[in-house]
Amino acid sequence: MRITFAAAEVAPYAKVGGLADVAGSLPQALAALGHDVRVYVPYHRTIDEAKFGIPASGRTRSVPYGAAHARIEYPEITRDGARVVFVRSFRIGRDKVYGYPDDAKRYALFCRAVLADLADGPPDVVHAHDWHAALLVPLAAKARELRGSATAFTIHNLAYQGRTSADVLRLVGLARSRLAIEGRDEANPMARAIAAADVVSTVSERYAEEILTPEFGEGLDGLLRERRDDLWGITNGIDTNFFDPARDPHIGAHYTADDQKGKAACKAALQKETGLSVDPAAPVFGVIGRLVEQKGVDLLTAVAPWLLEKGGQLVVLGTGEPAYEAKWRELAAKAKGKAALTLGFDAALAQRIYAGSDFFLMPSRFEPCGLGQLISLRYGTIPIVRAVGGLADTVHDLDAHAGKGNGFSFGKYEAAAFADAIQRALHRYRADGEPWSALRARAMREDHSWTASAKRYVEMYAAASKARRAA
Ligand code: GLC
Repeated sequence: MRITFAAAEVAPYAKVGGLADVAGSLPQALAALGHDVRVYVPYHRTIDEAKFGIPASGRTRSVPYGAAHARIEYPEITRDGARVVFVRSFRIGRDKVYGYPDDAKRYALFCRAVLADLADGPPDVVHAHDWHAALLVPLAAKARELRGSATAFTIHNLAYQGRTSADVLRLVGLARSRLAIEGRDEANPMARAIAAADVVSTVSERYAEEILTPEFGEGLDGLLRERRDDLWGITNGIDTNFFDPARDPHIGAHYTADDQKGKAACKAALQKETGLSVDPAAPVFGVIGRLVEQKGVDLLTAVAPWLLEKGGQLVVLGTGEPAYEAKWRELAAKAKGKAALTLGFDAALAQRIYAGSDFFLMPSRFEPCGLGQLISLRYGTIPIVRAVGGLADTVHDLDAHAGKGNGFSFGKYEAAAFADAIQRALHRYRADGEPWSALRARAMREDHSWTASAKRYVEMYAAASKARRAA
């Protein structure tokens, strides 16, 4: 199949969150299955041309945009069997991927530019990700040249829908006729993609069920229920060649499920690097990600002092809401040697935290899939999570599944429930039941590669093509 992806961020070129990891590894997994895959991503100004060998120029097109035309250039490269096409325009590329008042317009133009480039060689499937690429779905659905192309839309996070003024529709040539869900003069790109796509998917089976309810539906649960028969839940994989404690170039010592000695060295090195007291017996808890509501930052903040009192050490890497950043700075300053905070994103340090921690904390309020828990399992770091979305699908509580579990989980979004899960984890860690190394080995041996999920995407694409033919 000829498959075209469009996404705002694609690792390793530009990364803000998990979307980049998926858009940067699923195409390669599909290519490995023999498919012809092309990935479109905006040419953000931070992308390092020299490092990735991106040519200085590419084919150009004049793309209709409002009353005028925008000149777009499409330099491209090939990585691990998939073509990566950068969509270059001064109107789109900036220093940050998101966060500008005209994001809605930037991304609408991105979608229009991808459409223009597809008209010459229509793919079998156009697969758009999240709200930034969402308008590509209705655009492709109505383009004559793309009559034979099926459309797929993947929701990585329903909380961000790209709601904006209906003016953007006119800019890219879409009809303004409203969806029931849109307000007057409002456009909701994500809703439009959900309504128009041949198939819709999200990144875990549990989240696919959750978003049909008002609690997780973010106002779109009604629309999603209408699309229920075409809604797929496919759990994300990770790039297990990249995330591999046996080879990871960013960590000080390598290890495997059978020979875990290197993990102790990674832990000591992490304690040293981040200013924690170097103590092999102190359980180290890692936190990596955005310090925002979704990730349960209020629960983390509430539980942290207690965790430190219990003898735990905390290593936090992330950025987020300023109020929380301030609280965490204060906590880290008070707990020297026990809590370490790095505000920012540092991919190499992230790998050292995955490798050097004993536990990984993810008390999310909601979690479409979550990749941190999958990476930590791969590094033998035991996840402690709230049982929602993809976390519920991938982490199985050790106390509930004796001899089979791979982590600890809790249900209610409450500090007490989170603390209880941590308490149970500490108890296991210190008690002499199943040896910790055996538990770790089991976690490390789980298969969270793309192999199984990439095949399910192929099934979904076949269903999308069938739906398109029937239409
Ligand atoms: C978003 C979601 C996260 C998911 C990722 C990749 O960042 O919040 O749960 O893992 O997308 O699909």
